[in-house]
Amino acid sequence: MGWPCVGETLQLYSQDPNVFFATKQKRYGEIFKTHILGCPCIMLASPEAARFVLVSRAHLFKPTYPRSKEEMIGPSALFFHQGDYHTHLRKLVQSSLSLVAIQKFIPHIEAIAVSAIETWAGGHVVNTYQEMKKFSFNVGILSIFGHLDVNYREELEKNYCMVNKGYNSFPTNVPGTAYSKAIVARKRISKILSEIISKRMEKSVAEKDLLGHLLNYRDEKGQRLTEEQIADNIIGVLFAAQDTTASVLTWILKYLHDDQKLLEQVKAEQKAICELNDKGKNPLTWAQTRNMPLTNKVILESLRMASIISFTFREAVTDVEYKGYLIPKGWKVMPLFRNIHHNSEYFPDPHNFDPSRFEVAPKPNTFLPFGNGVHSCPGNELAKLEMLIMIHHVVTKLRYEVVGSQNGIQYGPFPVPQHGLPVKFWKESSN
Ligand code: HEM
Repeated sequence: MGWPCVGETLQLYSQDPNVFFATKQKRYGEIFKTHILGCPCIMLASPEAARFVLVSRAHLFKPTYPRSKEEMIGPSALFFHQGDYHTHLRKLVQSSLSLVAIQKFIPHIEAIAVSAIETWAGGHVVNTYQEMKKFSFNVGILSIFGHLDVNYREELEKNYCMVNKGYNSFPTNVPGTAYSKAIVARKRISKILSEIISKRMEKSVAEKDLLGHLLNYRDEKGQRLTEEQIADNIIGVLFAAQDTTASVLTWILKYLHDDQKLLEQVKAEQKAICELNDKGKNPLTWAQTRNMPLTNKVILESLRMASIISFTFREAVTDVEYKGYLIPKGWKVMPLFRNIHHNSEYFPDPHNFDPSRFEVAPKPNTFLPFGNGVHSCPGNELAKLEMLIMIHHVVTKLRYEVVGSQNGIQYGPFPVPQHGLPVKFWKESSN
């Protein structure tokens, strides 16, 4: 359980998570206890145990986040809840991100991707992670609001950026700190959202985007969601959508750069599609995005290798027994996605980047980049779609080189290549 009070928090957050978990697993097996961020925790590194907590006995384990983080996003955001409220909210989010809904986003996501990469070409150094964050933020805005006035978008982006910084900093109300600035920015976001909502309500058209679904919702008693509940869920979705997708896209560019032969194969796949679309003059179709077999496998393998969400937290709502072990009420429970993804029993030669391993479907419950069960990611299809579209445009329009040291990892809080992967891009046709 580590040192009194701090437990093993420092070890977990100061070293490569692969090393921390692998050392524990080697010593204690697939279930072990520790003490992180002031809480006793049980870590679970087997697919069966992850399924037990997230799916078959999900009702015995509630989602749990530090209070300061819950306040920053907004306590009514769906991922903090269980039961009826969560089920209703989740249906609204799911329908705004369904396969039918996201097909309509394709030309808009393409426009966002193309205008982003136009600013990258020219041989100057670009911070890939920061650029991918702008991209995934704009796609998040698209899925929530459909078309949004550029002034509102910019104001939301500026304030959301401050909230994000505060979320990952030490919670204190001392003026001038990242946390206290974030609290102020969070209040400003509520005000902006309130204006957007008023304007939308004046139009009285039932839009099919997330905001439309949230505004049209009535419960069994005919009650609407409050403005606060709507705002918390909008910020929650932006929060869930941005850094996650941006980190994976950054890893994809790194993995492709490290394997030039694979990059050429991905280029060939995407250029063939580009040719069919009159050299890229016609937009990508939904059918084309569903038929990019190699690029799709590159995305799956990147999700596995990078395992940007290394684990998730739940809390036992009662004493629970699992395979003869007692999980005491109130203890945190952490299914370890990264360990499962890096276990050679399920993924042979796990540290080797090999998209071809996804020619065969992974064994059940061994591939969990989007979680599992009632809280699994409702944005997973949108995330994959936006990654396919971004890769299509990057590899058909640009060539690139990573600048500087190429092997470090930074955690902020998701793992990303060191310094956000500085890269120089050039237009594909120029030398
Ligand atoms: C590559 C990108 C992404 C990854 C790896 C990812 C991963 C995850 C994971 C692992 C969970 C489950 C967490 C848990 O069980 O505690 C989750 C939940 C969630 N994700 Fe994603 N996500 C991604 C992109 C997105 C996008 C683009 C959106 C929305 C546009 C989104 C919206 C959500 C929401 C709302 C939840 C909470 C669901 C609930 O509690 O019912 N995610 N995501």
